[in-house]
Amino acid sequence: MSLQATTAALDPTLLGEVSSAIADRIGLHFPEERWPDLARGLRAAGELLGFGSPDGCLRWLGSRALTAGQVETLASCLTVGETYFFRDPASFEALEREILPPLVAQRSEAGRFLRLWSAGCCTGEEAYSLAITCARALPDLPRWNVSILATDINPSFLAKAEAGVYGEWSFRGAPGWLRERFFSPTSGRKLAIDPIARAMVRFGNLNLAEEVYPSIRSGTDGMDVIFCRNVLMYLTPRHQRQVVSALHRCLGEGGYLFVNPAEASPFLFPMFAMETVGGVTLYRKTSQPGRVESGPEPVPPEPPPPPMVVPTAPARPATSARRATPKAAVPPEDPLDLARARAGQGRLEEALAACQNAVAAGRTDPAAHFLYAAICDELGRTEDAIAALGKVLYLDQDFILAHHALGGLYKRLGRRKESRRHLAIALELLSARSHQEVVPGSDGMTCGRIGEAVRAMTGA
Ligand SMILES: C[S@@+](CC[C@H](N)C(=O)[O-])C[C@H]1O[C@@H](n2cnc3c(N)ncnc32)[C@H](O)[C@@H]1O
Repeated sequence: MSLQATTAALDPTLLGEVSSAIADRIGLHFPEERWPDLARGLRAAGELLGFGSPDGCLRWLGSRALTAGQVETLASCLTVGETYFFRDPASFEALEREILPPLVAQRSEAGRFLRLWSAGCCTGEEAYSLAITCARALPDLPRWNVSILATDINPSFLAKAEAGVYGEWSFRGAPGWLRERFFSPTSGRKLAIDPIARAMVRFGNLNLAEEVYPSIRSGTDGMDVIFCRNVLMYLTPRHQRQVVSALHRCLGEGGYLFVNPAEASPFLFPMFAMETVGGVTLYRKTSQPGRVESGPEPVPPEPPPPPMVVPTAPARPATSARRATPKAAVPPEDPLDLARARAGQGRLEEALAACQNAVAAGRTDPAAHFLYAAICDELGRTEDAIAALGKVLYLDQDFILAHHALGGLYKRLGRRKESRRHLAIALELLSARSHQEVVPGSDGMTCGRIGEAVRAMTGA
């Protein structure tokens, strides 16, 4: 159905206002091309809220601040409830085989506890898959305190999750042993979760767009592992950054964040170290985010890259925009070094000014513009980031990292055609190089690795 047909009866000005009110309160991103989805959800919300016409509901929602109850109603009409058990099995295998064993060995003498969180848990399949994975990894489970927090904004999803009773559809793609070992049939030809796995999970309502976490009260602190998969993709760029940074604070040192590969972005996870574990890309909280520690699996032949790559001038220490630089104690003279140092300290406005000085001082290497783009993105200035990446490509049209970054930024903005074009160019440029070759100007990232990231973004 065309956008016009679906939204025909609704006032576009009001639709725009409601879309930004929804973005503010729930974080959900409804750019114009998703207005048909928004209109559909608002029609359903209008009925639940007792409005005769969707336009009436729209006018009312656009005219006042949303109450907590309305946020819940809107969330239940606008969120996407697609989920199933052991979705993306490689993530659960990496957790069971690589992440949990060293953690369990370390905690078996000290505390015997594990803390996991399914953030955006939907109807609970992901949270119970985590519980079952822990049960499989812990032969002496009763001696352990395994706490799995599962939160969502949609109360109807949470009610289903609490009940723990599922139909066939939730088991699509699930391993054969799952039903037999962890479910029992109910009278309605459904399957109920094993009570031991059920008891490991605690469900709660939490709006990820609100800055209410980490907190001891909600139990969102000191996490070992957070799964926040297929959630960021629905949020505005500003909320994606806010959520990732809050989740970073929720993790304990060494903790892991799992996202969907399509949500991986060159700019979104600068405070994390990126690791590839069992073929899955994970984000790890370390005291030195730029330095990638070897993952628990045998170290691959090439060093895993940091999430965000900023080009380096020859003989200058490479760094990412957020990375602390060893030079911080002595202010560097070169404006680009200064920009990197300030970015590493999180002083982004100063970093931006230093980048501008580098350009004003006649620096024509694309690195200055690329760093500028990275900082703009960090500050939420997406259009400026895109413009700066355009300058990078004006100076060097084969700058692989700029094509990669533009692919990610356009994808986030829903500009699929442009995203695909830049990702295709990045892949073409990469195909002319060997897997082991370091991407020019990057911080040790190999062509093989960046190729994986680009392919994940294209869904290939
Ligand atoms: C597609 S489901 C993903 C479920 C599960 N994580 C998975 O990957 O299978 C997305 C979930 O994110 C939730 N969600 C969307 N916006 C949210 C917000 N602001 N706060 C909390 N949950 C949110 C939705 O309600 C929905 O349950």
